[in-house]
Amino acid sequence: MSDAANDKVSITSGATPVAIMPRAAQTAADVSGHYDELDRPYREIWGDHIHHGYWRTGRESPEEAVVALVDLVADRLALTPGMAVCDIGCGYGASGAYLAEHYGLAVTGLTISSAQARVAGGRRPAAGTFTCLERDWLDNRLPDACFDRAFAIESSEHMADKARFFSEAARTLRPGGRLVVCAWLASSAPSRWQVDHLLEPICREGRLPGMGDREDYETLARGAGFVPLGFEDISRNVRRTWAICARRLLLKLATDRHYRQLLASSHTRNRVFALTIFRLMIALRTGAMRYGVFTWRK
Ligand SMILES: C[S@@+](CC[C@H](N)C(=O)[O-])C[C@H]1O[C@@H](n2cnc3c(N)ncnc32)[C@H](O)[C@@H]1O
Repeated sequence: MSDAANDKVSITSGATPVAIMPRAAQTAADVSGHYDELDRPYREIWGDHIHHGYWRTGRESPEEAVVALVDLVADRLALTPGMAVCDIGCGYGASGAYLAEHYGLAVTGLTISSAQARVAGGRRPAAGTFTCLERDWLDNRLPDACFDRAFAIESSEHMADKARFFSEAARTLRPGGRLVVCAWLASSAPSRWQVDHLLEPICREGRLPGMGDREDYETLARGAGFVPLGFEDISRNVRRTWAICARRLLLKLATDRHYRQLLASSHTRNRVFALTIFRLMIALRTGAMRYGVFTWRK
């Protein structure tokens, strides 16, 4: 890690120190407020899945690409019918319900956004089951060893206590169970400029209490007793996502008064995220930010 990233200090109580810490503390209430306030833009600009798309061949449509990321996660989880699976930070429940239906699973999803829980709670897959809990993963109160598999697509970044993120996964998984995590990662040696103008603001504006690098995740997972099975850096396959989001946002701003009002109003606490989209685009293009898929076994 560079000196630039080294001098970050944790100011969120209970936060696990990781490579990039925002200058202002980001709480769980900030995270749920972000998703509740931006519910409409998320659903209209991102769609059902609020994660990066995965372009394996480059010819996939954006809709195919977001599902392709879920297929990649499914493959790394080695799913079989009847498994109990946890979708940690389930958003609108699209990934969990998709996996329940395709693999005949009993999926439990957790989100801290009420707006998301209303949508996710209504999902009825044609096969398997999907149950949504509006609940903080760090205080999930689920029984020990109740899942065969767990996955987190772009949710661990939002949790301050990342050590607890992993210890709760270890506690709720059965022995031999797998955990797959898709995460926004800081590069191992970001420059001062990349930290100051990309990574730190992305954390603050995107409500991330901390952005870890690959080493942070590997150390934390090992500390919770996980055995690594694989790591893939798929940054090049996912980075097209933000150009698509930026284009869709600009189109909305040009054609929909709701978006112009949302952005113009000083009451919109999370309007700065419109700017963050462009930082994300540059961060992934320049390599300041990486996108990783980790697979572990308990
Ligand atoms: C970028 S969205 C990803 C949603 C979903 N995984 C997907 O791929 O569509 C981040 C999600 O993490 C959830 N999240 C963040 N912190 C959480 C916490 N402490 N407990 C449960 N969910 C959390 C948010 O509510 C949101 O659903």
